Amino acid sequence: IQFWAVVPAAGVGKRMQSDRPKQYLELAGKTVIERTLNRLLEAGVFGAVAVAVSTEDPYWPELEVSRHPSVITAPGGKERADSVLSALKSLHGQADDGDWVLVHDAARPCITSEDIRKLIDTLADDPIGGILALSSHDTLKDVQGSSIVGTLDRRHIWRALTPQMFRYGMLKAALTEAEGNPAITDEASALELKGFKPKIVEGRADNIKITRPEDLALAMFYLEQQ
Ligand code: CTP
Ligand code: MG
Repeated sequence: IQFWAVVPAAGVGKRMQSDRPKQYLELAGKTVIERTLNRLLEAGVFGAVAVAVSTEDPYWPELEVSRHPSVITAPGGKERADSVLSALKSLHGQADDGDWVLVHDAARPCITSEDIRKLIDTLADDPIGGILALSSHDTLKDVQGSSIVGTLDRRHIWRALTPQMFRYGMLKAALTEAEGNPAITDEASALELKGFKPKIVEGRADNIKITRPEDLALAMFYLEQQ
């Protein structure tokens, strides 16, 4: 059994409101995506890292890492799930159905090899797979309009992070079946739709997704701390 990494990196980063997609913004001297890919490559566990980028992306070919022997470039899709499926397809002929795939957002550059290891070690014998997740410290409200209609039971609520680790064959089938379904916002939800119950593995809180402008400074702080 081999391990493969898939990195969706074809988003435009609308919430970041910058001149270029957020994965190409600078974070401590390197682009966000270089930091993310370096962490995955340094983990030393992946047969290859398949990266989905937009076909009109002028930034990706400029990066040295795009020519790294372990990096495969795949065309991005309309939604994140389409990009992930495209990257999975680019591994066809290399990955076996029973191999593990770890899908990791390009926009999460603070991922540690510690968390990658933890996910792999915890789920290695699992039939389905699962995801890194964080419990919620805040009380969570169910809101309609601007009124609270209920309070969620926090003990049952987790925030989904990446990497998300599933079997190559199962994940490809689940994403193919779910194509065009807007409810599929991560890999686990595609498996859930098929009736599977993916596991959660508690991840580190510093594995943030760069989403808004202030997140860059926070990511910089976490990288320094690590
Ligand atoms: N992504 C992708 N293909 C898409 C949309 C998103 O590969 N069609 C990737 C992004 O590049 C990112 C990850 O999925 O690495 C998580 O998505 P998100 O944080 O939502 O990034 P964006 O969609 O770029 O940002 P926004 O939603 O603010 O526009
Ligand atoms: Mg998005």
